[in-house]
Amino acid sequence: MEPADVRDDLTEVLLTEQQIHEKLAEISRRIETDYAGRSILLVGVLRGAVMVMADLARELKSPEVEMDWMAVSSYGAGTQSSGVVRILKDLDTDLTGRHVLIVEDIIDSGLTLSWLRANLESRGTASVEICALLRKPDAAKVEVDVRYVGFEIPNAFVVGYGLDYAEKYRNLRAIGILAPHVYT
Ligand code: PRP
Repeated sequence: MEPADVRDDLTEVLLTEQQIHEKLAEISRRIETDYAGRSILLVGVLRGAVMVMADLARELKSPEVEMDWMAVSSYGAGTQSSGVVRILKDLDTDLTGRHVLIVEDIIDSGLTLSWLRANLESRGTASVEICALLRKPDAAKVEVDVRYVGFEIPNAFVVGYGLDYAEKYRNLRAIGILAPHVYT
């Protein structure tokens, strides 16, 4: 789906599909250099990270790239993360001695990732780093050390490229700001 297909639902296109792909290519070159000679386990966090994971993994020019998935849910009412995280689907991979790269669509409060990193580090990994396409610095409740960040964005309601509103708009190719009339 293109932004033109949902034009009335967006106040603006924040990042085009091309901008996203160029950024992921740039990040991939850094990852290839940083992990030269080592195999990587990409850990995608369902469901938002599906698009980033698919494009990042395909951009990496090495067969030493594995993928696994986790689904987590933060306790608490409303749309805000609470910091208390429950694992809905765990990894199938043994992490002992592995170089893990967590792949996320967005860091909002930072609570999910800060919990997730500590959880994965406790499993005997060789290293745990984070790659997030988007970060909202103004929404941070905890500082998370993120090695690869695509774009820092304003604290607005963004959808597309995996990001949803009520499970919709994940299939939008670009990332846009959702118009208030959609959610009010
Ligand atoms: C989003 C996103 C992160 C988390 C970030 O997931 O994918 O996992 O929120 O928020 P935080 O930094 O405030 O913890 P969400 O819970 O919306 O689920 P989804 O990926 O299935 O859309």
